[in-house]
Amino acid sequence: MSKIKIINALVLTMDTINRILSDTTIMIENDKIVDISRTADDDNSKQKSEKRDDIDDIDVIDARGMIVMPGLVNCHVHTVQTLFRGVASDGLELLPWLQEYIYPMESVMDREEVYVSSLLGYAELIRSGTTTCADMQSVRHTDKAFQAAEKIGIRATIAKAMMDNEESVPESLLENTSDSIRESERLIKQWNNIDNGRLRCMFGPRFIQGCTTKLLKEISEIMNIENIGIHIHAAENLQEIENDMKRYKKRSIEILDDLGIVGPKSILAHCIHLSDAEVNILSKKKANIVHCPTSNLKLASGICDVPKLLEKRINVTIGADGAACNDNLDLFKDMKLAALLSRISKGSETFATSAMDILESATRAGAKALGMLDRIGSIELGKKADLVLVSLCNPEMTPLFNIPNQLVYATDGHNVQTVIIDGKIILKNRKLTHIKETDLISDSQSMAKRIAEKSGIDRKMTNLNS
Ligand code: GUN
Ligand code: FE
Repeated sequence: MSKIKIINALVLTMDTINRILSDTTIMIENDKIVDISRTADDDNSKQKSEKRDDIDDIDVIDARGMIVMPGLVNCHVHTVQTLFRGVASDGLELLPWLQEYIYPMESVMDREEVYVSSLLGYAELIRSGTTTCADMQSVRHTDKAFQAAEKIGIRATIAKAMMDNEESVPESLLENTSDSIRESERLIKQWNNIDNGRLRCMFGPRFIQGCTTKLLKEISEIMNIENIGIHIHAAENLQEIENDMKRYKKRSIEILDDLGIVGPKSILAHCIHLSDAEVNILSKKKANIVHCPTSNLKLASGICDVPKLLEKRINVTIGADGAACNDNLDLFKDMKLAALLSRISKGSETFATSAMDILESATRAGAKALGMLDRIGSIELGKKADLVLVSLCNPEMTPLFNIPNQLVYATDGHNVQTVIIDGKIILKNRKLTHIKETDLISDSQSMAKRIAEKSGIDRKMTNLNS
């Protein structure tokens, strides 16, 4: 049995009453939190006396000078795009960005490149405090993303992107409807609930425009029978919505609702441009939305009215989106931006999101969206040990009056020292324990160059060679 004992901890529990505990010991056995109690004096003396038989098999972590918090849940990321960071930098909105850069690069990626891009993304996520992510991959080689997640130790719910609409998808990524469903079902069979439930699988119809009605309908029918969720982009960009309107004579969320896609098992990324009727559908159907503030600003998509959605009791989670449109997967940065953008929200004059609201979005709400609130999202007895230790011993975290304030506005992921996922230490004193970071960085650099060359994107990037 593996045991970890965290002593002298200042714990932001994110439990239902958001308790903050000081001088606390958290006992972890295998993958679970089995005890939370006051740190006793003899814990400290045991910690100091080296090589005592009864503690030899326990990893003791002294958390003095740190906040212990639940691992962050990033509900929308594309780790397959991590090697595209910085490629399409400025002046592009969603649809030309996809057609001119993202699709050409995704379409040339081989299995090894998908593996390295995903591994690089997971490394960045873990190093900045994310323990769980919902990852939408490309149409091919999704096994390699699962293998990367398996290797590095992150908790991941991964979806293969599904794209079968020949009106909008380039031939190089276009799938046949039944092949797309068959491949998703194969991935579900092979990977869902693998590694003690750490790896899970979802359907990933990319967005309305990329899919046929038949594909969306069939997915919703399968979802009704099997306990599998769906990860989709929705209502992100005005041109995209206009295209949806031309095709269906309805707004995006209305289309998805009519097709049976909107519900508690759906995570809908962005949801920026919504009519009141669409907000009501999301609320009534208990759908989960993912706010991706940096991506929404970088692609000039707009600002999601989070206070309005929260007022309607919609489950709002946070996502970094991909490195190709963020360009950083540190969820602390997206939490800060989410909190700040809510100040200029048009939704309500009386309701602005607090730092604690945003922390809830990035922990418990994310866990709920992925159907895992009974296991993750807070530090509570019996839950999985997915924890992050954030250092307070630096100027930007001093003085300490208000913990939620400090975590949302003052820090970023660089203060994350140690990360535990499923009861295993995955980051120790800022070093990843399951992979060699130096190899990953050199592989990433050469493969990113290879992808840019293969796709011809290198010729568009004047700044790379100048
Ligand atoms: N809509 C469809 N595909 C994508 C994607 O890869 N990124 C973003 N931000 N929006 C999308
Ligand atoms: Fe996205």
